[in-house]
Amino acid sequence: MHDDIAQASQLLKEGKLVAIPTETVYGLGGNALSDTAVAAIYAAKSRPQFNPLIVHVHSQAAAMRYVEFNDHAEKLGEHFWPGPLTLVLPRRADCPLSLLVSAGMDTVAIRVPAHPLAQEILRDSGLPIAAPSANRSGRISPTQASHVREEMGDTVALILDGGPCDVGIESTVVGLASGTPKILRPGSVTAAQLSHVLGFAIEHDTSGGVQAPGMLASHYAPDSPVRLNAQKVDADEALLAFGPALPGARHTLNLSERGDLQEAAANLFRMLRQLDAFKATRIAVMPIPNTGLGAAINDRLARAAHPRT
Ligand code: TXA
Ligand code: MG
Repeated sequence: MHDDIAQASQLLKEGKLVAIPTETVYGLGGNALSDTAVAAIYAAKSRPQFNPLIVHVHSQAAAMRYVEFNDHAEKLGEHFWPGPLTLVLPRRADCPLSLLVSAGMDTVAIRVPAHPLAQEILRDSGLPIAAPSANRSGRISPTQASHVREEMGDTVALILDGGPCDVGIESTVVGLASGTPKILRPGSVTAAQLSHVLGFAIEHDTSGGVQAPGMLASHYAPDSPVRLNAQKVDADEALLAFGPALPGARHTLNLSERGDLQEAAANLFRMLRQLDAFKATRIAVMPIPNTGLGAAINDRLARAAHPRT
């Protein structure tokens, strides 16, 4: 098994995807520090959407490198980690995680898995690992290695076989980034268990924005207005290019000069923030084909361009 771990670490460092057993379900893992690796995770889903991903780390101390803990989060981490609980917390100002794992938001969902193989790969690689459940969009989460092979085929470089998952249901996701802690996704840790540790009754979030926080337009809106499908640019605009860039913009960043959608996905959230910082009159965006990851990119851009209230 040691050979497998060394190989998995190497593949992750190269930006490849590795399926990883956890105590809940198998995860489709990639290096959470790398925009390119995280874009590859989204691309591997057959109906790609930029839903934020869970970042797996080997300890609470490792989690503190990436997110701001508060008293509730510390209590929950100390009690339930390693284990099937995910905490959503604010990104630290110096957080080196890919913005794509947060789907452009200021929070990260993070957990310390208990499965010994997951622990080994996290320690051996020294990397934070982004991993959604290793199934195609809209399908059942895999609880053994053969399920992953059926679901993902050759899109994963390696499947670490850790046998059937003990828990078999995804982790409970608790939102702690603002206000009272809320259960964002029910899972194997129950509300009663959480309430017991917190010392008050925790409730389920019923606001509806939970399953896909990215659906909230405001989460994506840059300060500058956004204009889509630009065929030419004004001198006071900042340009988000795709393919050969239009001339004449005040500032230009290119999602992918060679017109590669996976590269564009990897760059999207970072470049939107960078262009926003120029405080141009507008951000103009060149057309992006609506195929493959292009659909997810265009969905996010449409939200960014949506008129503000
Ligand atoms: O048990 C599990 O949690 C498995 C194993 C592999 O760890 N992972 C998993 O990941 O179920 P995924 O991507 O299938 O589900 C992630 C959930 C989604 O409901 C997503 O909306 C939520 O976590 N989530 C992730 N980041 C979030 C964030 N920043 N804010 C709110 N919710 C977030
Ligand atoms: Mg899932």
